[in-house]
This record gives sequence, C-alpha cells and structure tokens, in this order.
Amino acid sequence: MTTAKLLKSIAVVTPGGDAPGMNTAIRSVVRTAIYHGLKVWGIEKGWFGLINGLIIEMGPKSVGGIINKGGTILHTRRCPEFRDKKNMEKGYKELKSRSIDALIVIGGDGSMHAAHGFSKRFGVPANFIPATIDNDIPGTDFTIGFDTAVNTALDAIDKIRDTATSHERLFLVEVMGREKGFIALDVGLAAGAEAILIPEIKYNTDKLVREVRVGQERGKESFIFVVAEGAGDVYALAKELQIKLNIEVRITILGHVQRGGAPTALSRGLACKLGAAAVEALLKGKSGYMIGVVSEKIIFRQIAQIYRTVKKVDLKQLQLANMLAS
Ligand code: F6P
Repeated sequence: MTTAKLLKSIAVVTPGGDAPGMNTAIRSVVRTAIYHGLKVWGIEKGWFGLINGLIIEMGPKSVGGIINKGGTILHTRRCPEFRDKKNMEKGYKELKSRSIDALIVIGGDGSMHAAHGFSKRFGVPANFIPATIDNDIPGTDFTIGFDTAVNTALDAIDKIRDTATSHERLFLVEVMGREKGFIALDVGLAAGAEAILIPEIKYNTDKLVREVRVGQERGKESFIFVVAEGAGDVYALAKELQIKLNIEVRITILGHVQRGGAPTALSRGLACKLGAAAVEALLKGKSGYMIGVVSEKIIFRQIAQIYRTVKKVDLKQLQLANMLAS
C-alpha cells in the first residue's frame, strides 16, 4: 500500500492484552510522528474506542513520563465486537471524520489479524508493532514485553526456590502462555527448573515421577516445575504427583503479575526502535508491515505473508534445560 504523499495525520492504538513497554512504544510513535510534522491521535480502549470514537489528540507532552511505566496509557480491552463488519465500518467513519490517514497498531496476535482485516477492507494504511508478553508473533525474534515478563517470572521463581529448598518441596509454578510455551521455556531455562511443561508437548506424569526419583537418588530435595498456562491442569497434576511421589507439592500461579511492571531495558529499547520505524515506514509509503527484530536488526514483514503462519518454540532449548537440570 502506498501512503507517502498524502500522509498528514495518524492514530495509534493498543488493543488486546497489554504488555510492559507498550507505553514506551506509544511515546516513540507520538514523538516520531510529531518530529516529522504529523498530527497524532490516540485511540483509547483498543478497538472498542475506535468503534465508539474515543479518540484524542496527542501532543509531545502527553507521552511525557511514561517511558518506564507498565500498561498502556491509552487503556485497552478485549473487543470481539470488532469482528463485526458494521462495527468496523463505524470505526472507519470515526477515522475519516477526523481525517486520520493511517494507523499504528501495537499489540499481539489477535490485534495483528484485526489490523490486517480492517486495513484491507477499508484501504486504511496500517503498520503493526508486536507487543505481547507471549512472544508468539511470527517473523520477529522478540516482541515488546516478553523480556520483562520473563524477568518478572524469573525473579518470582528465584524466591520460590528459597522456600522450596527450606521445606524440601516440589513447586509447580504456572506462567502465562495459553497457546505457546515461549515464556515457560525461557523462564525454565534461566531458573534451572527441573521440568518445563509447555502446550506444544503433552506431558507424561510417569516420566516426571521417574525424573524426580532420579533427582532424589542423587540427593535433590526440592524441585521446581515451570508449567505454561496451556500445558494442562496444574491442580490435577499436583495431586497426582503428590500421591505418586509422597512429597509435598505446592502450586504458585504467577498470572497477571507477568503483564505489569516497568519494562526492562530490552523491552524499552525495542519499543523505542519499533515505534519510530513504524512511523517512518508510513512516511516512506510503506504500510501493511509487521515491524520486528531479527538477529538484532529491525525488519519489515508484510502482514499478509505472515499472519497465517505460526511461530514455533525451539525444542532444542527444552532439551538443553533438561540436560542442565539433570
Ligand atoms: O496474550 C497475553 C496473555 O497474557 C496470555 O498469555 C494469557 O493467556 C492471556 O493474555 C490472558 O488474557 P486476559 O488478561 O484477557 O485474561
């Protein structure tokens, strides 16, 4: 899609689940756009705000003091109603009534699909910045927020390790990741977890029992299993393990704590770079792109080419974690 000559005004939106570093990305988009003489709007509450005209003008000061703040100052909410063509049409009219020429969408998988659908239907140029703790956007090594979530979970597990050791217990620590095990894999490796359970691989309780016994034989008294949200029922597993192993089992569900907090340097740096690149791409007439990072270089992938593909976890990392913990 070519946008170059006509671009005067853009809007930024953060639909779906939030991620630490989204604010840093909003700041980057707003300040880059203003630097290049564009008018910038912020759409509040995600796609719901687009449908309902919750659209505010943003100046350079509106994004002051947010570089280190978790969440999104634009707010967000899940909005399945945006799949409805009539609602999309309403959203389009809201943009047109303000002469907004293009969109920058900051979000996860669902937001990328929605941005693609909306942009195609109404011919609105849009670039997409991947920001989700799940790291499950194809075509980019990292998404904004992933590193922060991993570090938050890691910090918690280090603390859990202390009490697990004192009480000689087995802890099942559930981390986020309904569909994918990216968080569990990175956290599990870095935490030295005795087992990592991910949605991609069905776990075998008897195998886990054998592994704990082998560990016990060589003197291990406590164990940490990192379990991705989508890997199975953590309560049922705890019950089974407790009966079969005759060891005290405890469960910690880290939950939404992983979605909050100050973004790490990595999440912030990525957000600064991707936000600016997304706006500058629009100015050069490039739209319809997911802007990510591969081998530390900023890359542009056409959303049309990636949105049906699936990013896969690296199973070698699971083998490595298992080898190092054995
Ligand atoms: O998409 C990010 C994510 O954090 C998933 O890992 C998790 O399953 C989901 O969001 C939770 O969403 P909600 O906050 O809407 O319950």
